[in-house]
Amino acid sequence: MKLCMIGTGYVGLVSGVCFSDLGNIVYCVDKDINKINSLNKGLVPIYEPGLEEILKKNHKQKRLFFTSNLKKAVQNSDIIFICVGTPTKKNSNSADLKYVFNVANELKKLISKYKIIVTKSTVPVTTGDKIEKILNNLRKKKLIDVVSNPEFLREGEAIRDFTYPDRVIIGTESKKANKILKSLYMPIIKKSSRYINTSRRGAELIKYASNSFLATKISFINELANLCEKTGVDIKDVSLGMGLDQRIGGRFLRAGPAYGGSCFPKDTRALIDIGNKFKTDLTIVKSVVSSNDSRKTLLLERVKSILNNKLKNKKIAVLGVTFKPNTDDMREASSVPIINYLNKKNSKISYYDPSGEKIEFKNLKNVKFSKSITSACFNADLVILHTEWNDFKLLNFKKLVKKTNFKIFDMRNIYSPLKMKKLNIKYFSIGR
Ligand code: UGA
Repeated sequence: MKLCMIGTGYVGLVSGVCFSDLGNIVYCVDKDINKINSLNKGLVPIYEPGLEEILKKNHKQKRLFFTSNLKKAVQNSDIIFICVGTPTKKNSNSADLKYVFNVANELKKLISKYKIIVTKSTVPVTTGDKIEKILNNLRKKKLIDVVSNPEFLREGEAIRDFTYPDRVIIGTESKKANKILKSLYMPIIKKSSRYINTSRRGAELIKYASNSFLATKISFINELANLCEKTGVDIKDVSLGMGLDQRIGGRFLRAGPAYGGSCFPKDTRALIDIGNKFKTDLTIVKSVVSSNDSRKTLLLERVKSILNNKLKNKKIAVLGVTFKPNTDDMREASSVPIINYLNKKNSKISYYDPSGEKIEFKNLKNVKFSKSITSACFNADLVILHTEWNDFKLLNFKKLVKKTNFKIFDMRNIYSPLKMKKLNIKYFSIGR
C-alpha cells in the first residue's frame, strides 16, 4: 500500500519506517527541511535502538521517502496518517490541536480521490469529528474516511512494540476503511496481536485511558512503596505477589521516581481536561497527577535525609538522567527537579548518562557532565542511581568511588539491599 506519514516526530518516523519494512511504499513528510535533508542522508534525529538500520535499508530499497512536498506525498498515497504533535497548551491541561487542524486544512485542498485519513497523534475524544467537519466537502463526496488509530509505542522499545503490539485499535464506522486498514495491519495481526474495530471516539479514548491507567498503576505502587518504607516490607515482594494475579498483571508495577516522559504527564492532564469539558470529574486521574507531582518533593526529602540535611559541598554522582533507559529524552524526567535543587543547595553534582550531556544542566554552576561512570562516581559522598540503563546494573561501587563512607540511593531498586549490607555499603532504595 502507499502511505503518507505527516510529521516525522517519534510516532510518524517510527511508524513510517516500520510500515515500509512490511513492504509498503511510505512517504514521510515534514515542514522542517533540515530534518528531511538529514533523514535523506540516513541520519536519525531521535534516539531509538535499531531504527537507523531499518530506515537505511528501506530508504535504499526505495520504499521509504522523506520529503517536504506534502502535495505530492498525499496524491501518491492511499492512506494518510496524521502524526504531528499535540503538546499541552500553555497554562492549561488541554492538548493543543493546532498542528492537527493545520494539517486537516492543508489536506482539504489536496484530495481528489478516495483516501483514508488516520489520526495517530494522541488526540482528545471528538477530534476526529472536528477533522471531519473541516473536510466536510470531501466527506460529502465520499472522498475520505477519518479514522482513529492510536499508537502504543514505548520509547526505547518502539520497534518491538510496533512489530508485536498487544492490540491494534481501529476507530471507524466505515466498513471500507476498516477493511483496508485491516489488510495493512495483517502482517502484524497474523503474529499474535488482537485487531479491534471500535467507534472513532472509542479509539480516541482508549489511548488516554490506557496511558492514564498505566500512570495509575505506577503511582499506586509508588505510594505503596512509601508505606513499605515505614513498615519494613519489600515493595518488590508486594509487586510480585500482586502482579501474579492475572487480573492485576505484573507489568508497570516497578516502584521508582516519579513517572516522566512525553506521554504520561501530558495525557493524564489532558484526560482530566476532557473530563471537565464533558462535565465528568475524573477524581482518580486527578489524584494520580498530584501523587506524581508530590513524589518529586518526597524524593528530595529522602536525599536530604540520607545526607543528614547537609547538602553543601557534598559530592553527588547521578547515574542516568533521562526519564527512562534507551532514550535521550529528558521531558518531565524527575532528575531535573532533583539536580536543580541540589545545585541550589551548592552540592557538587557530576552526572553521567549513556545518551550524553544534557542542555537542561548546561548552565548550572555546580553541575558537570562526566564522560564515564568512573569519573562521575570518583570520590562521591552519594551515588544516585536515577535511570536503570543496563550500564549501571553490575557496578563495583567500592572500586568506582574509592573512598569509605559513601552512600548509594538506588531509585530503581537495581541492587540487593542484602548484598550491599554484606559489602558494608550504606545503601538506600525505594520501598525496601
Ligand atoms: C508510554 C506508554 O507506555 C506507551 O504505550 C505509549 O504509546 C506512549 O507512552 C505514548 O503515549 O506515546 P513511554 O512514555 O515511552 O510510553 O514510556 P514508558 O515505558 O511507559 O514509561 C513511562 C514512565 O513510567 C517512565 O518514567 C518510567 O520510568 C516509568 N515507569 C514505568 C515506572 O516508574 N515503573 C514502571 O513499572 C514502568
